Amino acid sequence: MWLHTKDTFFFSGGDAISMNVGTTIIKSRHSVRKYKPAPIEEVVIRDVLECARHAPTAMNLQPWLFGVIRDRELLKKIAGLTDHGKFIADAAACFAVCGERKAKYYLEDCCAATETLILALQAYGVGSCWVAGEKKEYAEDVRILLKVPKEYTLVSLVPAGYPADLTIQKKKEVDLTVFYEIYKEE
Ligand SMILES: Cc1cc2nc3c(=O)[nH]c(=O)nc-3n(C[C@H](O)[C@H](O)[C@H](O)COP(=O)(O)O)c2cc1C
Repeated sequence: MWLHTKDTFFFSGGDAISMNVGTTIIKSRHSVRKYKPAPIEEVVIRDVLECARHAPTAMNLQPWLFGVIRDRELLKKIAGLTDHGKFIADAAACFAVCGERKAKYYLEDCCAATETLILALQAYGVGSCWVAGEKKEYAEDVRILLKVPKEYTLVSLVPAGYPADLTIQKKKEVDLTVFYEIYKEE
């Protein structure tokens, strides 16, 4: 099966391990902080939101709200509030993942939704970057700016757009990060 994303074709079939479409998409994801001016198609926005709402949540509470911000002035204001998210100003869209404070595991739930959203965007060839979030002082300022009810808090921002540039970060080798059964020092 051929899978078409914006700029890339992936092939899946035959060797299930080396040519798996899903894992190829997961491994091809990198944070993208420079975007082409092209908008993200509405059908893509809807489908990635559909994917995000399928993320697992503790007790299936789904304690979230997903904001979709495309207004340029609003994007600039959000960017201005962040410390390490100035590139949000130039994104085609920015998702704001908000968690319901009273749900015990809202942070884990919203992080699961954030990663699901990011991977769904990647499946369409749309680049994005996880921008913090919940532990930042500006979380409350962003909530107020977006008029999100106070029962919710910002968990993450996900600016997105078709990639103009990206940096590929080095990752730890799997054998350095994994243990099987009981952990033992070599
Ligand atoms: C919880 C969290 C918060 C992050 N916050 C920011 C941020 O504020 N600004 C930013 O540019 N990148 C942010 N990132 C992206 C990381 O810098 C990035 O994932 C990391 O450098 C690895 O690069 P990669 O995503 O390309 O694999 C954040 C990622 C996570 C998971």
